[in-house]
Amino acid sequence: MKKINVILAVAALAALAVSCQKADPYGYTIKNNQIVYNTPERPADQQSMLGFAAEPIENVRIGFVGLGMRGSGSVDIITYVDNCEIVAVCDLYQDRVEAIQKMLAERGKPEAAGYWGEEGYKQLCERDDIDLVYLAVPWQLHTPIAVYAMEHGKHVAIEVPAATSIQECWDLVNTSERTRKHCMMLENCCYDFFELTCLNMIQQGLFGDIVHVEGSYCHDLSPYWDRYQGDWRMVYNKDHHGDVYPTHGIGPICQDLNIHRGDKMDVLVAMDSDAFAGQAAADARGIYGDIKYANGDNTSTLIRTRKGKTILVEHSVVTPRPYSRMYQVQGTKGFANKYPNEGLALGADELKGEDVAYDNLNAEWYMSNEQRDAIMEQYKHPMIADIEAKAKEVGGHGGMDFIMIYRLIYCLHHGLPLDQDVYDAAEWSSLVELTEVSINHGSMPVVMPDFTRGEWDKTDGITFATAK
Ligand SMILES: NC(=O)c1ccc[n+]([C@@H]2O[C@H](COP(=O)([O-])OP(=O)(O)OC[C@H]3O[C@@H](n4cnc5c(N)ncnc54)[C@H](O)[C@@H]3O)[C@@H](O)[C@H]2O)c1
Repeated sequence: MKKINVILAVAALAALAVSCQKADPYGYTIKNNQIVYNTPERPADQQSMLGFAAEPIENVRIGFVGLGMRGSGSVDIITYVDNCEIVAVCDLYQDRVEAIQKMLAERGKPEAAGYWGEEGYKQLCERDDIDLVYLAVPWQLHTPIAVYAMEHGKHVAIEVPAATSIQECWDLVNTSERTRKHCMMLENCCYDFFELTCLNMIQQGLFGDIVHVEGSYCHDLSPYWDRYQGDWRMVYNKDHHGDVYPTHGIGPICQDLNIHRGDKMDVLVAMDSDAFAGQAAADARGIYGDIKYANGDNTSTLIRTRKGKTILVEHSVVTPRPYSRMYQVQGTKGFANKYPNEGLALGADELKGEDVAYDNLNAEWYMSNEQRDAIMEQYKHPMIADIEAKAKEVGGHGGMDFIMIYRLIYCLHHGLPLDQDVYDAAEWSSLVELTEVSINHGSMPVVMPDFTRGEWDKTDGITFATAK
C-alpha cells in the first residue's frame, strides 16, 4: 500500500511538472541539476527574421518616446543624421516634450507633435505617418511599448536592455516575426572604434580561432541614482539579482563569436557577491525603509558556446571604481583588450631560445603603441571609413552613438538588413533573467533558449550591409 502511495505521489508530481511546463511555454524545467529553458515551436503565422530587409524608406519618419538623460541626447544626435526626421516626441512629462520641441525648432527642424502621460505613446504609435518608433524609456517599458508599436506597423529601435524577462524576449521575437517589422536593440558599444576594428581583424583571421572573450559594465552610478525618473533604476537593482545591464558587455563579443551566425550561447552560470555597497547606497537614500537590497555589488557570468568557446561578463555599478567596459578577445594567434588601456598582442614579440627563463613572464607582451596604432589604422572597419570624422565631431560616447544611429537610418533608407536583429536583442537581453535564475538556484547552470529556433548556424558571421 505504502509503495502504491509513493508511486501515485511521484506520478502526481510528474503531472504537475508537465502542467507547469504547459502553463509557461517560455519557462524552464530542472533536469539533471541544470535549469533547462524551453524553446517553443514557431507559430504557423510567423517567419524567421534572419537577414530580413524591409522596403527602402526615402525619409525615415521617427516617433521618439522617452526624453530623459539618454533620450534627449539621442534626439540631439538624430538631428545630424540625413534621410530622417523626428515627426513626434513623447514623455511622461509635458515639460520634457516641450523642451525637445523647442530644441528641434531652434535647429530649424519641422515641428514635431507632442504627447505626454503614461499612455501618450499609444497615440504616437497609432499615427500613420511614422516609420520607426525609437524608445529610451525605463527598462520595464521597453518591450510593452515596442510590441504596441510593431502591432501598429512601425519598426522599433529600443534602448538597452530591450527586455527584462524571457517572456519579454519571446514577445519581441514573436511580434517581429509575425508583423515583419524590424526590432533592433540600440547596443551602441558594438560601434566603438576599437571593438569594430578588432571585429574586422578577427574576420580577417589575425587572432586565429577565438577561444575566450570578456566584456563588462563596471560603472559607479552613485552620482546618477537620483536622476532617473521615478527612481526606476535603483528600484530595479534593489529588487533583482543578476546582471541587470548585460548588453554593453555581451554585445560586441557576441559579434566576435558569430553568435546565432554560426555559434550559439549554450550554458550559463552566474554568481554574485553580497550587496555590501548596494545595501548601503539604498539605506543612505532613506526612501525604501527596511529592505534587503538584492543586486550583488559584483555579478560574474560564465557562458560556454556550442562551438566550445567561453565568455565572461561582469556587472558592477555601486562600488567606487574606475569606469570599465572591459572588452577582451583571446584567440589561438592573438589577444586584444580595452579598459583601462587599448592593447594588442599578435605573437610578434614572443620570446625565443635563451630569452625563455622560468622568471621571465613576458613570453607574450603587448605590441608598442606605435605598432598598435598602425595596425588599427590598417584594419579600420570599412563601414566607418566615410563617417568617422563626422562621428567624432557629433560625438555621443566618443562617436559610437552617432555611428549606431547613422547605420540604423542608412539601412532603413536603403532597405538593407539591420546590423543587429531581433535575435541579438533577445539573446543579449536574456541574460537579465537567466543570470538571476542561476543565482537564485545557487549558481546552477542554465541551458539557454534558442530564439532562432534551430537556425543559429544558418548564417556565416556578421556582415554590415551596404548599398554599394
Ligand atoms: N546605450 C547607452 O549607452 C545608454 C546610456 C544611458 C541610458 N541608456 C538606456 O536608456 C534608457 C533611458 O535611460 P535614461 O538614463 O535616459 O533614464 P531617464 O530616467 O533619464 O529617462 C527615462 C525617460 O522616460 C520617460 N518615461 C517614463 N515613463 C514613460 C512613459 N510611460 N511614456 C513616455 N515616457 C516615459 C521619463 O519621464 C524619462 O524622461 C534606459 O533603457 C537605459 O538603459 C542607454
